[in-house]
Amino acid sequence: MDIAVIADPAARAAHAADLVEELLTGRAEPVLGVATGASPLELYAELERRRERMPRGLGAFALDEYVGIDPRDPRSYAGVVRDHVTVPLGLDPRRVHVPDGRAADLAAACRAYEEAIAASGGVDVQIVGIGTNGHIGFNEPGSSFDSRTRVVELAASTREANARYFDEPSEVPTHAVTQGIATILSARRIVLLAAGAAKAEAVAAALEGPVDPACPASALQRHPEVHLVLDPDAASQLRGVAASSVRG
Ligand code: GLP
Repeated sequence: MDIAVIADPAARAAHAADLVEELLTGRAEPVLGVATGASPLELYAELERRRERMPRGLGAFALDEYVGIDPRDPRSYAGVVRDHVTVPLGLDPRRVHVPDGRAADLAAACRAYEEAIAASGGVDVQIVGIGTNGHIGFNEPGSSFDSRTRVVELAASTREANARYFDEPSEVPTHAVTQGIATILSARRIVLLAAGAAKAEAVAAALEGPVDPACPASALQRHPEVHLVLDPDAASQLRGVAASSVRG
């Protein structure tokens, strides 16, 4: 795994954007996998600054969505992707996909999402954040490494962490649709972003702990091309990080 530890948020975003751009450039209809949450927002702002260099025909697939939320609701992940990716990068909305958390038949919608990813040719670069419990997407601890897009129940700690986006903690949806771990691992390149001491334990478990569903992000150890872009706090519990990975 390639690990960059960069203190300056702008430099961190620029490094992540380089990793994204490198793989998208030269492809006719490349596909970006997009995460929500706070971690990728600086990256999306940096990609917006590079908008002119983004390939025409760029498509995107979101990692996850709450069950039961209206896509017009700004707290929906559809809303986050629209406001931070589709509109700022000038993507064709028809090429931007977010799981439908309000489908009458959620299982069928999950299957259709997998088929749409496959039909696009697959994700070139998948951006992921990490939960404090080691989740990626909404794959909570215990998720099978063979999992595909499906409905999941959110862990109490995840609902607490995401309560900041809602007026009342009880308003945080109890379930979500998420790409599975196998879906995420099928991307050609994965760029994981994490900042802050609250992520340090999860980052260390993901990188240096056993490859075990107890830490869903540890599945990334099985992927041939993962890049971690961390701040010093998020990297603070890594024992094996070489000084050469500290870039700022
Ligand atoms: C959320 C999302 C994840 C996100 C993670 C970290 O629950 N489902 O996709 O990566 O938690 O969020 P943040 O970047 O805000 O810390």
